[in-house]
Amino acid sequence: MQRKLIVYSVVLSFLIVNPVTQAIQARSDKEQPQTVVSGTAVQSVVPVQSQSQPQAGTNSQASSNFNPLGPNVLCSFLPRDFLECKEPIDHRNNETAWKEKGYGCLHFGGSFYADVEHTRVQCTVYTDIDCYGARTFFRDGVPCVRYTDHYFVTTLIYSMLLGFLGMDRFCLGQTGTAVGKLLTMGGVGVWWIIDVILLITNNLLPEDGSNWNPYV
Ligand SMILES: *[C@@H]1O[C@H](CO)[C@@H](O)[C@H](O)[C@H]1NC(C)=O
Repeated sequence: MQRKLIVYSVVLSFLIVNPVTQAIQARSDKEQPQTVVSGTAVQSVVPVQSQSQPQAGTNSQASSNFNPLGPNVLCSFLPRDFLECKEPIDHRNNETAWKEKGYGCLHFGGSFYADVEHTRVQCTVYTDIDCYGARTFFRDGVPCVRYTDHYFVTTLIYSMLLGFLGMDRFCLGQTGTAVGKLLTMGGVGVWWIIDVILLITNNLLPEDGSNWNPYV
């Protein structure tokens, strides 16, 4: 009877001290994963954390502990709908500033994919979205394109009907040439016609480098 008791207590103490059971316990208990010293849980946590740290912004206080069996994904894997992203930085053709920053746009606009610059922007996950890792990070592949309410059809109609007053160029923000066009009555008609052709051939564009607004 006494020998049986000793065997039971030895087995019981072995189970308590056994690191494997500790790992399993900590894995199911997400409040103290730091106590895990060995086991697969820690090994899978560390590389993911170190991957997201270099890009981390200032606020990562809300990032929860990683639970491999939980529903949370890495914040930087979230689709754009869950993020608030900043506009691409406009370096206004200043190459020094662009190199200094390491990202941002030298030029905006472009009609073909190959003409458009791409850059990364800083994104932050919306407050109520739950995810794992740094909540502020950089997202790559954002096109350097902006829309400031310039419509192609509207501008073309201006150019055809009011081109002798330079209205098309006024609307596009090209004020200097617009005044010249106004004073010369559309270059006595020649400039008027040339500008319509330039517009149709996509060579007369908004001064600020914005694209034609696609929504009429
Ligand atoms: C370009 O950017 C650099 C760094 O921000 C600045 O020192 C310089 O004055 C800028 N050059 C021009 C032409 O704006």
